[in-house]
Amino acid sequence: ANGAAKKGKSRNIIEKLEESGKNCVVFYGSQTGTAEDYASRLAKEGQSRFGLKTMVADLEDYDYENLDTFPSDKVAFFVLATYGEGEPTDNAVDFYEFVHAEDPSFSGEGDGEKPLSNFKFVAFGLGNNTYEHYNSMVRNVNKAFEALGATRIGAAGEGDDGAGTMEEDFLAWKEPMWTALAESMGLEEREAVYEPVFDVVERPDLDPEEDQVYLGEPNKNHLEGTSKGPYNANNPYIAPIAESREIFTVKDRNCLHMEIDLSGSNLSYTTGDHVAVWPTNAGKEVDRFLTITGLAPKRHTVISVKGLDPTAKVPFPSPTTYDAAVRYHMEVCAPVSRQFVSTIAQFSPNDEIKAEMTRIGNDKDYFHEIVIERSLNIAQLLEIMSNGEPWSKVPFSLFIEGIHKIQPRYYSISSSSLVQKDKVSVTAVVESTHKPNAPHIVKGVTTNYLLALKQKQYGDPDPDPHGLNYALNGPRNKYDGIHVPVHIRHSNFKLPSDPSKPVIMVGPGTGVAPFRGFVQERAAQARAGEKVGKTVLFFGCRRRTEDFLYEKEWEQWKQDLGDSFELHTAFSREGPNKVYVQHKLQENAKEINELLQQKAYFYVCGDAANMAREVNSLLGKIIAEQRGLPESKGEDVVKAMRAANQYQEDVWS
Ligand code: 2AM
Repeated sequence: ANGAAKKGKSRNIIEKLEESGKNCVVFYGSQTGTAEDYASRLAKEGQSRFGLKTMVADLEDYDYENLDTFPSDKVAFFVLATYGEGEPTDNAVDFYEFVHAEDPSFSGEGDGEKPLSNFKFVAFGLGNNTYEHYNSMVRNVNKAFEALGATRIGAAGEGDDGAGTMEEDFLAWKEPMWTALAESMGLEEREAVYEPVFDVVERPDLDPEEDQVYLGEPNKNHLEGTSKGPYNANNPYIAPIAESREIFTVKDRNCLHMEIDLSGSNLSYTTGDHVAVWPTNAGKEVDRFLTITGLAPKRHTVISVKGLDPTAKVPFPSPTTYDAAVRYHMEVCAPVSRQFVSTIAQFSPNDEIKAEMTRIGNDKDYFHEIVIERSLNIAQLLEIMSNGEPWSKVPFSLFIEGIHKIQPRYYSISSSSLVQKDKVSVTAVVESTHKPNAPHIVKGVTTNYLLALKQKQYGDPDPDPHGLNYALNGPRNKYDGIHVPVHIRHSNFKLPSDPSKPVIMVGPGTGVAPFRGFVQERAAQARAGEKVGKTVLFFGCRRRTEDFLYEKEWEQWKQDLGDSFELHTAFSREGPNKVYVQHKLQENAKEINELLQQKAYFYVCGDAANMAREVNSLLGKIIAEQRGLPESKGEDVVKAMRAANQYQEDVWS
């Protein structure tokens, strides 16, 4: 969201639609950019298939008092992500508070029976069914709008990231919605013609190094020493890396511990917060993309990119180069989407390839077989389809529109702010996975980027992991040393303010990250003579000798905390049967129940889909067993703990 940059612009959406000759606005409430992508796709499709005059809008850029005068020949779409524990995304907070208020204060100038009698809307939600408040944003907004008399067109769609069906849910929802919308607004469907959203002009007259050309600097002013922040989700701090080490290294798996220095930034954090890392794509994948699209020979040609329509936002600074736009702004390593395969088919090098691409785009099962099972990114798919022949007919605008913007990745901070106020640490497992049918090794973009920074900083033997040197030399942005662009996101995952309260922490794998911070903090409090309550940690990994994170540090903090610190370990691959943290929780059921009765805080961090769910239901069972209650009552106790913030989760899928 970049609403702050919009100062002085009108916040009146009706005026904006009228001025720009539009009849459809697609609002998005987005945290990580996915809802924004879906909003752009809907806007584009409405325009090309039905001749709607669409614009995309950030919810935080407009006011909503005048929705009661919204013209009945126009329509508003809402693409709404639900965030965390059922909260609106940051950019949707004001909108949500307004429409969800008991009696929203509309302008009163509408002429309907109810305030929104003339208002037509379309709604799609993005949620994750592993969270309790699944898709609560779209559900609540839909309810509020209906209560205010608005007419919804089509169903209120719900996409589920938890089940991994977001894209298919979206595709299945939108067809009947379009039919309903076309009928309601009297629109005729037409043969979709591709209309570029962006005008991309090559500027051979500009020199990428001499002229003011954007070369991927995450924050240009900062590099020049002219900006002091504030650093946030729109403006990362380019932080020096104080230290980096590998905690374990086995085949295809390394765990990295990195200390990032925030002292020059004014950024602050508290234990349990997240640090966002802004990654750079791997050089190899950038090369692959530029080669198969036929852009490699002119990768450093300067391009100027403009929206062909005043409401289209260019997602990176311009002028820039093809290379910089792809390397720093396009998620070219992510699996390609089915809709994008359909759209790009028309620009295939020949008709045979076009037919095959169209089939992949139209047939869900075939798409699964060809793309998903082999984890192909866009360039890998294009390479396979054309046998390496460049796809030079695709307009660059289509890539800007159809490939997601690179988003910062969030990591649970693994240090204590009490112990090291200006330095955050990150604990990340760097993995390369090789799927059975996949022709390529799949590498995490950000973790491999961090590992490459470490290897470069310490002069490790690999000459150019991740293609980093390549990105740092030549006509590209130059960092002065080893840095990583970051910002901080505050969380509600917090230790009790009174350290004498007991805590129980469950964190297998890198789920232990925030608990390293928690234990580090409590050890420091104990050293300072404070009374520190029971500190019980459940940790799980494959083998004691392989991936036991922070083994030495726990021992050291045990010296400070004494018997109040207990570490229970579950090694899943040492014996014939899997041993998980759940087994250890069960073995310690009695103590856990006693601690909970002394108002212990209970924390879970790590994998959302399986581990966190299983721990949640197991805790209900333990409580029921220990207190002689029926199982459902045990679950109620856990629910009440959640509501009281006594049960906290920091989980990811
Ligand atoms: P596994 O990979 O041997 O199955 C960190 O990833 C640890 O969590 C590993 O020991 C892993 O075991 C274990 N793990 C995997 N699935 C889990 C689950 N559903 N609940 C708890 N631990 C799990």
